[in-house]
Amino acid sequence: MADPVTPLYFRLVIRLLRPFPDFDFGFIKPVRARAAALLELTERARVLDVGCGPGGSFPFLRAAVGETGEVVGVEISPDVAVNANHRIAHHGWRNVRVLTAPAQTVALTGLYDGLHMFGAPDVYAAESALSNLLPRLRPGARVVFFGAKTSTRPQGWLLNPLLRRLFPKLTFESTPLPDAAPWAVLAPRLAAFEVREYFFGWMFLACGTYPGPASVSAA
Ligand SMILES: C[S@@+](CC[C@H](N)C(=O)[O-])C[C@H]1O[C@@H](n2cnc3c(N)ncnc32)[C@H](O)[C@@H]1O
Repeated sequence: MADPVTPLYFRLVIRLLRPFPDFDFGFIKPVRARAAALLELTERARVLDVGCGPGGSFPFLRAAVGETGEVVGVEISPDVAVNANHRIAHHGWRNVRVLTAPAQTVALTGLYDGLHMFGAPDVYAAESALSNLLPRLRPGARVVFFGAKTSTRPQGWLLNPLLRRLFPKLTFESTPLPDAAPWAVLAPRLAAFEVREYFFGWMFLACGTYPGPASVSAA
């Protein structure tokens, strides 16, 4: 099937990396580990990894839910989903799978104990995606998301303009430009919301607890 949305450069990189199903950048692994820990998953838990890409977070999520839980990746790009499926096959994980669909319309069954969105602003900053995903969470589920932001530190004046110029070239046409608070759409729907900055304030890791549908519709 032709891939209608994924930027060309991303498709090329993904194809080059296909022979290396476990590839990931070393510097990002501690952040992935922290994100997985913030989900507070236990064995038997079901977790959604939306915008899962080639599955870089799967090892951490799979370790958290063990043999008896379930990791469900959602990935809009069929090309990228191939890599995620290679990673799953490489490890022989039987409780990790990928749904190739947009977060906005993916059909999910049952309730999930955690929602993870790592580097996926098209998901965590999109009302249309969240309105499809949040009702699939059980009340009390943890929500964790990581992404780029503009820096409010002194260095920001230098690199923020560069970030805002480069970002559209590296992302989908629909991807929102990073600002100083990319968590603004989701934060009001979560209890115990927390955010922590990384890499001189150009990245953030945010988390909170989904209180349930009544609180969401009241937000
Ligand atoms: C920057 S990558 C991050 C991938 C992965 N989470 C990681 O940590 O390596 C963002 C991913 O989100 C996917 N994506 C973008 N918009 C999406 C949407 N609306 N629904 C599902 N996936 C989406 C992209 O195809 C891409 O693979």
